[in-house]
Formats: sequence, C-alpha cells, structure tokens
Amino acid sequence: MEKTWWKESVVYQVYPRSFMDSNGDGIGDLKGILLKLDYLQELGVDVIWLSPVYKSPNDDNGYDISDYQSIMTEFGTMDDFNRLLSAVHERGMKIMMDLVVNHTSDEHPWFLASRSSVDDPKRDYYIWRPGKDGKEPNNWESVFKGSAWKYDEGTDEYYLHLFSQKQPDLNWENPQLREEIYSMMKWWLDKGVDGFRMDVINFLSKDQRYMDGNILDGKQHGDGSPYFLNGPRIHEFLQEVNQRVLSDYDVMTVGEMPGVSPDDAVLYTGEDRGELHMVFQFEHMDIGGGPEGKWNNEKWDLSDLKGILSKWQYRLEEVGWNSLYWNNHDQPRVVSRFGDDGEYRVESAKMLAACLHMLKGTPYIYQGEELGMTNIAFESIEEYRDIETMNSYEELVNTYGWPKEKMMAAIHARSRDNARTPMQWNDGRNAGFTTGTPWIGVNANYPEINAEKAYNDHQSIFHFYKKLIQLRKQHDIIVYGRFDLLCPDDEQIFAYTRTLGEEKVLVLCNFKGQEATLTIPTELHSLKATLLIGNYEQEESDTVSSEPLRPYECRVYLLK
Ligand code: NOJ
Repeated sequence: MEKTWWKESVVYQVYPRSFMDSNGDGIGDLKGILLKLDYLQELGVDVIWLSPVYKSPNDDNGYDISDYQSIMTEFGTMDDFNRLLSAVHERGMKIMMDLVVNHTSDEHPWFLASRSSVDDPKRDYYIWRPGKDGKEPNNWESVFKGSAWKYDEGTDEYYLHLFSQKQPDLNWENPQLREEIYSMMKWWLDKGVDGFRMDVINFLSKDQRYMDGNILDGKQHGDGSPYFLNGPRIHEFLQEVNQRVLSDYDVMTVGEMPGVSPDDAVLYTGEDRGELHMVFQFEHMDIGGGPEGKWNNEKWDLSDLKGILSKWQYRLEEVGWNSLYWNNHDQPRVVSRFGDDGEYRVESAKMLAACLHMLKGTPYIYQGEELGMTNIAFESIEEYRDIETMNSYEELVNTYGWPKEKMMAAIHARSRDNARTPMQWNDGRNAGFTTGTPWIGVNANYPEINAEKAYNDHQSIFHFYKKLIQLRKQHDIIVYGRFDLLCPDDEQIFAYTRTLGEEKVLVLCNFKGQEATLTIPTELHSLKATLLIGNYEQEESDTVSSEPLRPYECRVYLLK
C-alpha cells in the first residue's frame, strides 16, 4: 500500500460560524480562525477542513452558496482568506475546502438565470420538470422534509431540491455546468488550497427516469434515494473531476457519502480507480435510527457499532482508505452520544478518542471534540437555528402528531445544533467566543469545559488528543498496520489489534460505566508490552495488564 501524506495526517474541522468571532457581531469569522492558529498548531493537527466560507444567504449555514469565488460577508474578505491560507502554510499545516456542488443557493446567478425562462442558456444547469397531474413530478422527499420539488410560477415547472427549497440541485448531466465547476475548483487549487471535502458527492448523478420512490408506512412522501445515491454516472463524473482537475495537484479529497457501502467505497477510493482518497460513510452514525431516521433515536448495541466499524476496516484493507470520525457539524457530540457526559465525561471522551484514532484511516477531529464538549439541551424550539431541526419539528409535531416532549428529547439527543454551539475558549463572557450576542446560545457548561482550562491541565482531554496525534507521527503501525477485531460479541469492550511486520498494537476500550474483564489471547501475553497511552493511572509493567478495565478505561499497548 502506497504511503502518502494524507494517510499520515490528522484533520481538524472548523465550523467557522461557531469557532471564533473577531469583530463582535456574534458570528465566527476568518480573522477569528487566524487568532486561533497557534492553538491548532499546539494540538498538532496537519490539515484544517473549513466548512463553507463562500458567499451565501445562509439558509443552511453556508451549504447554500451564491458565489463560489467570494467570501461570505459575515466571515470577512478574500484578503482575509489569503492571509489565513498563508498563515496556515507558514505553520506547516494545510487547508481543505468544503466543495458543495450537488446544489447551489437559489440566489446564485446561475439559478436566477435558469429560473428566468425555459429558453435561458442556463436553464439546464438545474433540474426542471413539468408537474404530473397538477402535482410534483414525482414523490421524492427532501432530506430536510417535505417534497423535494418546488413549483416555480414564472415558467410553470418544478425544480428539484434534495435539501432545502433554497438549495436547488445542479444538473451534472450538463457538460457546460461541469466545465464551470472544474474551472472554479482549479481557481481555488491555483490559489494554493490543499484539498476538498466534497458535500453529498454521491448524490450528483440522478437516474434520469425520475421514478417514484417507495412510501414507508404512515409517510406522505417517497424515498427517492435509490434513484440518486451512487447513481448511474457517479463514477464517470468523479473520474472526470479527477482527470480534469485533481490529478494536476497533490491534494487530499474526501467525499461525504450518505448511504454508501464498503463495496461502493472500494470503487470510490481504490488506488487504481482515480476518484477520491476516502469517503465519509454514515453507517456508524446511523446506528439507532428508525423510520424517521435519527429522530427515532433508538437503543444501540456495542456489538453493532463494532460490527460496522470493523466491516469497514476489513473491506478497505489494502484496496481503499477509511476516514475516521465520531463528530462533525451534522452530528451530536460523541461524548454525549457514545460516552457519558456526566460522571465519566473525561474518561469516556479520552476512551472514544483512542478507540477512533487507533483504527486504520485518517482521523478527523471536530472543533471542541478535543475538549470533550457536550450536547446542548435548549428548552424551546425557538432557540434552535438549524433548518433541518426546525423543519423536522414542524413536520413531526405538527403533521405527524408527535408529542412535543418526545420531539424535544430527540432534538436534545440528535440535533445538528448540538455541534454548532460556540467553541468554548475560556470561562469569560460567552466562553470567549464573542464580545457580542452569539448567533446561537453558548453551552452553560463553559466555565468547566473550555480550551484555556484544558490547556493548563496536563491530564485534560486536549492533551490526550495531542498525545494521540504525536503517537501517529512516531509509529508507522498506527497509520499502516493491519486491523483485526477481538471479541466481536462483547457488549462492553471494543478491543482490536493492529499489526505491521513484527509489531502489534493492542487497543482495549471499555464503553461502559462498569468494570469489564477481558480475556486477552494468550499469544499477546507472551509479548513484551509498552503502554503507549491510557486514561487512568497504570502501574509500570512490561506485559499486558490482566486487571479489569475500569469504567470507560482505555489502554493502548505496543507489543513486540
Ligand atoms: C451535508 C452537510 O454536511 C450538511 O451540513 C448540509 O446541510 C447538507 N450536506 C446539504 O449541503
């Protein structure tokens, strides 16, 4: 397997709106990120992934772009961006941009032209269809609820929007549109950016028949995903992107891909395929989902989580590459979801970090994860800002009759706003995020959980992450070693090994608040062991300890 810098890197995701506000308007900005580069350098991350910073009316916080080549007013100017890019490079780090090309904003000039007339040269840049029997062209549901089609009076046709009504889908069947995207991508790469995280990139190719999807029991709309996920021309499109643009640069790519299987991922990330470096799969995030997706928030078993993650590890071994993540701007905080954000917050946040960073793949850290930031539980729906949360509340409570309490509990557990409350920098006003009024409420636990405090405490989650990153730089086995799962059915312990040549790494993680006993395979006991990292005090020894794992304990050994 080829050695590359992006396999050896750790990526840190910045959600600019919530990271650091430099001018007191309550919204994070580029100058704010610049102020915090020393912090990121201290943590030791290699690549910064910036969620969209382009001009946008912010229907979906920048994932609705109205100009790909200018900066969102609230975030600053192109000069600010250029300064940030140079400062990041001066520190030996890289910047990965978010590339949102499945859709634009409905305020993008292309869409304004497209909607103006059926004869406009840009009409075909988007997906327009006449209605069927006075209704939508088909029954597809939008990811953000309601129909995926919006009627436009001006030309008496509907346009497709798989996300919000203000996010019309681009028509990748149109070669001219593809050319426009490629020249925009080149423009950013020539400016010196180091890669792209590609938003819902496996949605690009739609089955041109636009057939109705199945309607699940009790639902109003159909599931169109079989007709747009990993669609008929997707590999052709991505190979074209690669040939026309990416292959001329040494950059990193990751495709966000809901509904992708490990077999699909082999096609998307195979080294001989010329498509992408890695994908963000969703299977481990979708655990506990039901007919209403994440809002059902059902119980999950550790064996299922291990089954999913190890399936991905095994399938991509030697033939592809994994991304590793627990968190991003769309997911609840991992310590609240898979750990314990009360009594064992620190222990469980560290255990989750070790469990993820020792897997094979490129790890991603989402801002605040390195502090063990937790979910938020705003009391009323009015305090939420996320369009998906608001639309889902409206539909499930007002149309489907869910009791408000049930929906609020689901929102507390799973809303995207859990990830979007401001970064907690210190114990000052608004957690040091802004001197103004923050665009979304700050988590009240900031006096306890904040970067300044974490930095000054050598036992903190921050320093644990820092050490994990350093270990990756010191031991090739952490990057390139083969993965093997131990005790797949154990409902308390996630244990696995990595193997490279004569070396092994043994990873033991207790996912529960009780002690756990594990039988370690005898052949591992006979090897000389060094504890690389752990989250409890541990007596010095040169063998693997057979003591039970304490609540949320993790131990990572190097064995020779
Ligand atoms: C995935 C992004 O991560 C999410 O935040 C966004 O709402 C959708 N794609 C639509 O762009």
